Amino acid sequence: MRTSKLPDVGTTIFSVMSALAAKHNAVNLGQGFPSFPIDEAWGMLMKKYIETGKNQYAPMPGIPELRKVLAQKYSLFGSYDPEGEITITAGATQAIFTAIQAFVHPGDEVILFAPAYDCYAPAVTLAGGKVKWLYLSHPEYSIPWEKLEEAITEKTAMIVINHPHNPTGTSLNEGDMKQLAQMISGTDIVLLSDEVYEHILFDGKSHDSALKYPEIRNNVLSVFSFGKTFHMTGWKMGYAIADASLMNEFRKVHQFNVFSCNTPVQYALNEYLENPKNYLELSSFYQNKRDGFLKQIEHPKLKFLPCTGTYFVLADFSDMSDEKDTDIAIRWTKEHRLTTIPCSVFYPDGRDHKVVRMCFAKDDETMQQAAQIINNLTF
Ligand SMILES: Cc1ncc(COP(=O)(O)O)c(C=O)c1O
Repeated sequence: MRTSKLPDVGTTIFSVMSALAAKHNAVNLGQGFPSFPIDEAWGMLMKKYIETGKNQYAPMPGIPELRKVLAQKYSLFGSYDPEGEITITAGATQAIFTAIQAFVHPGDEVILFAPAYDCYAPAVTLAGGKVKWLYLSHPEYSIPWEKLEEAITEKTAMIVINHPHNPTGTSLNEGDMKQLAQMISGTDIVLLSDEVYEHILFDGKSHDSALKYPEIRNNVLSVFSFGKTFHMTGWKMGYAIADASLMNEFRKVHQFNVFSCNTPVQYALNEYLENPKNYLELSSFYQNKRDGFLKQIEHPKLKFLPCTGTYFVLADFSDMSDEKDTDIAIRWTKEHRLTTIPCSVFYPDGRDHKVVRMCFAKDDETMQQAAQIINNLTF
């Protein structure tokens, strides 16, 4: 039998844990998606654009109206031409895949930081590239700058960053971004910047997009997700922004990857984006969720690590047990009916810092139930 080019890849942990949660009727803080309804306005918008006939292929890069609105949205960070520098994609996942296929040639090296979101490394493998793993320093999960400097060679085609960061809930600051910019400015390394949680930052922090740094304008391709911002992960819509020199190349792959993305959703998004309130209140919305959840936790031994962005928080159980995090996650699901994601699955070597990821993008009742279970955990 012919094998795929990813013969060793199994089903993602998110599917495995969600199936286990369903089987045991567990409170599911595993997979990262909101459990509450989307804005009712979406129903009307979608109906409007389907009924007015916006049902055929959109232009390859996306409808011009939506790209124009996005250019305005990001004018805060820099001037990006909607015509040649913004492309609508089928979620951030497709943007990431397309970027990696476009820029990584066989034998090229791509630097990834672990723990890492799971779709980067397989895309590099499919492109014939080689992943060079670096490890964020535990428990702050900061970039190991010296190691990064050593890792960059003439074979480095791409560095992937993700901030705010899944699974750790940390974020990069201006100092980090400047340091990174200094390292790659003047090279032809592509900085693929996964910014899907751009609007979920807490305690007064603001998002430091890679698009903000003119010295690396020719290096940066940033990807974003409407799914994360508007609580509709199932619609799988996102976009990529980059200088025309990179975007031209990106589109050469995009056009054969999906050609174009869902037309009525693009029109609906265009109208919905007219009101910035629809995304500017996201940080305070999720900060209330984070604080409301953590306030209810009274467990003496489970320690929650600082969470400055995203809708994930890490819980350190090392004072409770020295079991593997994967075993704990399965056991809590089966015996306590609480599902989390073990952080070791985000590492290529499965290293285990005894932390599990909890998603707090859930309705208040679910979070209350979760807190109650956590407070009664004995191992
Ligand atoms: C860091 C990160 N990047 C990308 C994605 C995928 O985004 P989308 O659903 O828009 O494809 C996710 C989804 O969980 C994510 O956490």
